[in-house]
Parts: sequence; C-alpha cells; structure tokens
Amino acid sequence: MKPIQSLNVAVVGTGYVGLGTAVMLAYLGHHVTGIDVDQNKIDMLTRGELPIYEPGLDQLLVDSRDRLTWTTDYAGAIPEADVIFICVGTPPLPSGQPDLRYVAKAAQSVAENLNGKLQVVVNKSTVPVGTGDWVARIIEEHAVDSHANRYVVVSNPEFLREGTALHDSLYPDRIVLGSEDPRGTARLSELYAPLLEQSFDAPAYVPRPSGYTRPELVTTGLSSAEMIKYAANAFLALKISFANEIAGLCERVDADIQEVTRGIGCDSRIGPRFLAAGAGWGGSCFGKDTSALISTGEEYGYSMPILRAAVEINQRQRHLVISKLQQHLHRLKGKRIAVLGMAFKPNTDDLRDAPAHDCIERLTQLGATVCAHDPIAMERARREWSHLSYTEAESVEAAVRGADAVLVMTEWDEYRNLDWDRLMRGMRRPLIIDARGVVRDVPEFGEVEQIGRKPRAKRTAEVTA
Ligand code: UGA
Repeated sequence: MKPIQSLNVAVVGTGYVGLGTAVMLAYLGHHVTGIDVDQNKIDMLTRGELPIYEPGLDQLLVDSRDRLTWTTDYAGAIPEADVIFICVGTPPLPSGQPDLRYVAKAAQSVAENLNGKLQVVVNKSTVPVGTGDWVARIIEEHAVDSHANRYVVVSNPEFLREGTALHDSLYPDRIVLGSEDPRGTARLSELYAPLLEQSFDAPAYVPRPSGYTRPELVTTGLSSAEMIKYAANAFLALKISFANEIAGLCERVDADIQEVTRGIGCDSRIGPRFLAAGAGWGGSCFGKDTSALISTGEEYGYSMPILRAAVEINQRQRHLVISKLQQHLHRLKGKRIAVLGMAFKPNTDDLRDAPAHDCIERLTQLGATVCAHDPIAMERARREWSHLSYTEAESVEAAVRGADAVLVMTEWDEYRNLDWDRLMRGMRRPLIIDARGVVRDVPEFGEVEQIGRKPRAKRTAEVTA
C-alpha cells in the first residue's frame, strides 16, 4: 500500500451508507469517527458488532478498527475533522419528497462544532437538488462566530448497492464531486486518492476485479451532482420497468424475455444489466428517488411521464405475481403458498419496499396461508413485518412441504441450485411461480412459470392430494 496523506474524517449517520463510508475510508488509511444519535448502535459498533448485514463488512471492520472510533458526541469529533460526511437517512414523506429533518439536524450539530479553519462538509445522503445550498445556509446560521471561508459544502453522491457495498465502494465506476468551491473538490480528491489511483492493497475477501483500472472522477457544480444521483437511480429503475413491460408483451406474442434481453443487451449502447424482468424493483432507493424526482417536477409545473410509467409498471408487477397464481389455482382461499425470499434482493436483510411484503399481504387478504423463508432476513422480518400474517419456515424444504404453490420472490443463490425434483414430491401441487428467474431446469413433475416466458412443464403434474 502506498503511503497516503491521512486525513481526519467524521461520518454522521451509521446506516448502510455511513457505515460503509466510515469503514472504507478507515481501510484506506484515514482516521475516521462515526457519529450517530443512537447510543445502541454506537455501543454495538464499539464492541465490534455490526447493526446491519453486509457481506465482508465485518472483516473490513476488523481490518480497519485501529483507525475507527464511534461516538454520539459531535463536540468530540467535529472540531478535529478535515472532512465531515453527512450520511443520515432521508425517508420518504407522504408527498414523495424525502424528509430532510435528519439532514437539517446533522447540519446544525456540525455547524455548532466547526473549528474555524477550512473544513469540508460532504453531503452523501440522497437529497433533492438544491439541498447543498440549503445545508450551507443552515451551517451559516448555526455556526458560532460565523465568518467566510471556514467551510465548503460538497455533494458526493453514493452509488453503492446493498449486498455488494464493499465492492462498489472500493472499485466504483465513478466518483462524483459537486461543489462551487475548488477547495472542496481538491480536498476530497486528496481523501479519495487511494481509490482514484487504486493504490491500496485489495482485501482478499473483496478482490479487485480483473480488468478494473480506475474510477472516473466527475467534477461538477453542486446541483448537477445532486441531480446525477437521482437521474442514475431513475434510469436504472426505468430500465427494469422497460424490461418488465416488454416481458408482458413477450408472454402475449409467444416470445421469451430472457432471450430478448440477451439480444438487446449485447448492444453496447443498451448493455445487459438491469434488464432482469420479474417482480420489479424494491428497496429503499428506487421508489423514493423516482417519487422525489416526480414531485420536484411538480413543484416546477413539469410533468415526468416516463418516470410515472416506470413506477406504475413496477406496481403492476407485484399484482402480476398474484394473478399468475390465480390463473393456476383459481381461488386462493384455503391454499397454502410457500414464499421463498423476503429481502428486497439477495445478500441483504433489508426488507424496505420488498415486493415479497406486498405479495404476502395480498395472499392473506385473499384467504391463503403463507409459509415464508429467507436465508438472512427472517429474523428482521419478525420485528418489522409483525403486522403480516405468515409462518416462518426453518428451511426451504419446510416451506414447500404440503404447499399448493411456491412463489420465488428473491433471487438468493441458494434458491438457484435447489433440487426441485425432490422438493416437488413433498408439495400438494407442484407449481412454481418463479418471479426472479432462478429455476433453470424444469423439474420432472411440475410446472414452472416465470415472468415474460412461456409456462414450462415436462409432464402433466400429478396432484397428490
Ligand atoms: C440502488 C442502486 O443500484 C445503487 O447504485 C444506489 O447507490 C442505491 O440504489 C442507492 O440509491 O442507495 P440498491 O437499492 O441497493 O441500489 O439495489 P439494486 O441492486 O439497484 O436493486 C434494486 C431492486 O431492483 C431490487 O429489488 C432488485 O431485485 C431489482 N432488480 C434489479 C430487478 O428487478 N431487475 C434487475 O435487472 C435488477
């Protein structure tokens, strides 16, 4: 590892983004203090425990612990910091706009503890265009003995995906730095030098991908950086919705969406990723960010029909899963449905806006009983989905036993290699509605239905009960 100019960094907020940022910067050689108002989280982190599940993060935390401190105390951390990251949550309000209460609170607490020298305040939370200026005003109002040139606000949006957060942070496609003051961009370029030059030793558990060279550095104005974050998420969301819309037509004209997306994805202008048709997107970002853009458009009297359609199609996909079940089973009342996968995507225990949630809710409304399984998220669901009525299965086998149908809602790797021939023998009716395209081979007995493809069955299923 090349020696680096080590900076003092404070990271406010220890959610997915804050925690990942803090641990990654410490790994790169900086001295980092993570701040959170939640004493429980700080106690856990101080003990070396993680409040979230993210593959590899536990190991990176161990490898970086000498340069990491956790606290609830702004006054101890902010005056020492050369760079202060704001990474607090921005949950959606009923209007669709993000709730900026925590950002305002963090900015105020930062302002009250600035040291009077040049400090760079970085917005990493996803915030509407214009928030950087707003944060600057909050700091100006609350800074003690405010005078010019004592701080610079930079927007540095985060593009990491849950489940692959370490990989995305260490080997990003680009680093976006938006500021109206070149001193902010200069200091962050210094902070990110090990990433920009890829001069750090890659951890064995997150190896540098072969062929990867360096991230692109994109420097912009403050508002453009804020817009880049929203536009990127919105584009990815609409790419998925586009695939889902075409999938619906594929079903009607006897085409196969997997063949179609492979065909269009080979065009380098389109690219193969984010074209997997299925139950649609979930998670804390795409829904929130598309709604926020639409509602920003409304504020300016500007309609955004493409984004509205993307959201509508996404909603439709969740209903589609249920109607496929209904086509096969007719009345769902009294039927037992096994739901495989609860997290909004694999390799995370995050349940926010997970399509599985809406499906379980709808199934029980229709009178079905649900037995659900997830390799990681079941424990969290016990706390966060206590309003839903389902039973937990300790294994896939237990979930599927006696079921009238299986619904695959998350593409966990462990669901890709299941012995469906064996599993189906234990079912009341051997039917798989695979909303994530994980089932490759059609089992000996039974039917598999995937989104955008012809239903497949080798032989007529024998209903054993
Ligand atoms: C997303 C973006 O991908 C990140 O770049 C961004 O930093 C992040 O939001 C954020 O704003 O914080 P994430 O929400 O972690 O990341 O999850 P994705 O991997 O993007 O998946 C989102 C959803 O789309 C999942 O439910 C996934 O199952 C679904 N999806 C994804 C599809 O239905 N089809 C696809 O082809 C790809």
